[in-house]
Amino acid sequence: MSLEREASGAGRRAAGAARPKGTTDFLPRSMAPDPGLFDSEQKSSVERLFRELARRYGFQEVITPTFEHAELFTRSAGASSDIVTKEMYSFTDRGGRTLVLRPEGTPGVIRAVLGAGVRLPVRLFYTGSFFRYSRPQKGRFREFHQLGVEALGEASPLADAEVIRLGQEFYSALGISDCTTAVNSIGCRICRPSFRDKLVGFLRQKQEELCDDCRRRIELNPLRVYDCKLETCQTALDKAPRPADHLCPECNAHFAAVLADLQRTSTAITVNKRLVRGLDYYSRTTFEYISGALGAQDSLGGGGRYDYLIEELGGPSEPAVGFALGLERTLYAASATRQVSAGRLPLVFVVWFSEDELTVARKLAEQLRQAQVAARVDYEAASPAVGNKMKQQMKTADAAAARLVVIVGPEEISRGVYSLKDLTTGEQTEVPAGESVVRIKQLLGTLQP
Ligand code: HAM
Repeated sequence: MSLEREASGAGRRAAGAARPKGTTDFLPRSMAPDPGLFDSEQKSSVERLFRELARRYGFQEVITPTFEHAELFTRSAGASSDIVTKEMYSFTDRGGRTLVLRPEGTPGVIRAVLGAGVRLPVRLFYTGSFFRYSRPQKGRFREFHQLGVEALGEASPLADAEVIRLGQEFYSALGISDCTTAVNSIGCRICRPSFRDKLVGFLRQKQEELCDDCRRRIELNPLRVYDCKLETCQTALDKAPRPADHLCPECNAHFAAVLADLQRTSTAITVNKRLVRGLDYYSRTTFEYISGALGAQDSLGGGGRYDYLIEELGGPSEPAVGFALGLERTLYAASATRQVSAGRLPLVFVVWFSEDELTVARKLAEQLRQAQVAARVDYEAASPAVGNKMKQQMKTADAAAARLVVIVGPEEISRGVYSLKDLTTGEQTEVPAGESVVRIKQLLGTLQP
């Protein structure tokens, strides 16, 4: 199933089974029509890899609510940002509170830490669903998933470099070879006002060449003009002043130290002086992971430093740096650069010959589960409506992508054995009934997926 069809909610089969526009399902690999794209097992394994890596860098997991008070985001993302003005799912609950489905994770993590009175610095990571009411298209959903890290209370440029490296390590572990990292610095409270004046002066002269949105941005939020996707606006910006060329000495030193540390560890990045981010809270370092496999929505993930946000949300004046990676875009890029095989699962189907063996089959399945082996019995085949019961059970086992079938028949029971069939290779063997659990466990451990 193509990403466009997923994003638009198309591709539905049964009437009444349509997903809300801009949402997606993650089905088990054995059921997914296009393995590797929206595959629940791949999603879990990508999340597992992210968790392991984040922990290796000293981050601990935080889980925050899916909805928050609207004010948390209007105070953080920036009142003129697209996220706040156009994309928030807001609603009034029965108690008259204005709430929103979280469009991003950073403010919620800060709120949680401040609420618990946790002493900084802390390093936290998260995974979960986020919501933005935007036009669904390739790689853009209304409900999507992010994997994020936030290093709260860390001012050092070495923290910026470490966070950037963590994201790169994640993408290279996934085999996403065409991921590049763009880095920029957008300055601080000291250097940004004079840069802003220069940029506004330049943009006023270029008004005629800019789109309506960018014309409005000149007074409201001029830096955002750099974010415009229109080529005409980008051409008009060719000679515009760039934030990284107008940094104060402290920001300059910070940026140089980030770049030097990335170079020290041979972390491949490119400096992109046009890179600004869609959220207003950033200061100094900004970065994005970009993949050619994604088309217009080419940002796999992004982040940066946000040294004022904690204070703006009512906390102490503490610096911070972090990122969020888009899970759907990551899965898409991973499946574009790597062949994902739709292998069978370490699942055993205990197949009975007639209902006389059903009790033995159930007992064996229970023993297997106790021994940590996934096992199933097909009860539906017992229905009088099913003629060829063995055939029916084999079909169910195949549809469930089981790896092994254990056949429990009267002839086997009388000889004290069970037959094992490997559904990948078709090989069949017999094992003594008394040793079957141990032998099945051993076999599953040695089989190639
Ligand atoms: P963001 O750039 O808005 O940053 O989102 C990060 C990533 O989430 C994007 O690069 C993209 O992969 C994914 N994403 C965003 N919107 C969508 C969408 N509609 N559909 C699919 N994927 C999407 C943040 O959210 C910041 N909180 C990142 C951060 C953390 N900065 C500091 N700490």
